[in-house]
Amino acid sequence: MPDIETRSDLETLMTRFYSKALADELIGFFFTEVAPLNMETHMPLIVDFWETIVFGKAAYKGNVLQVHQHIHQLSAFREEHFARWVSLFQQTVNELFDGNHAELVKQRAESIATVMKIKLLHGGIGRMN
Ligand code: HEM
Repeated sequence: MPDIETRSDLETLMTRFYSKALADELIGFFFTEVAPLNMETHMPLIVDFWETIVFGKAAYKGNVLQVHQHIHQLSAFREEHFARWVSLFQQTVNELFDGNHAELVKQRAESIATVMKIKLLHGGIGRMN
């Protein structure tokens, strides 16, 4: 299997990931009901985000934590939502790509999910109660 090498590879990856995520019985409603995703406007942002991570391009200008803080206020995230998100993401990467960039996105997805979880569910480091 090929590695992730181009923006178009990231588009392929994310299209496949969101088709799974939207259909998922545990987390799908976040994308369809809580913060309905308009794929046409959203895909470029999400691909920018991953391009920044994989290729070191300063493409993404948003604040991903703030976006999820907002979603969390609309409908609270739980531990198992993050676990499912990460598992769908890893599964999608494994189906399509293999190599250093593939490993990098899986590792970053997991660490960002962990940070989000600590900040949103536990109020950040120092307030873990
Ligand atoms: C429980 C797990 C998660 C759920 C249910 C979830 C759901 C969503 C939803 C519904 C949106 C659309 C927000 C909007 O348009 O208002 C979104 C945006 C986004 N998510 Fe997540 N997300 C999760 C975890 C993650 C993680 C771990 C990452 C990164 C590794 C991530 C990356 C992004 C990015 C880059 C955007 C676009 C941000 C922007 O508009 O600037 N998400 N997410």
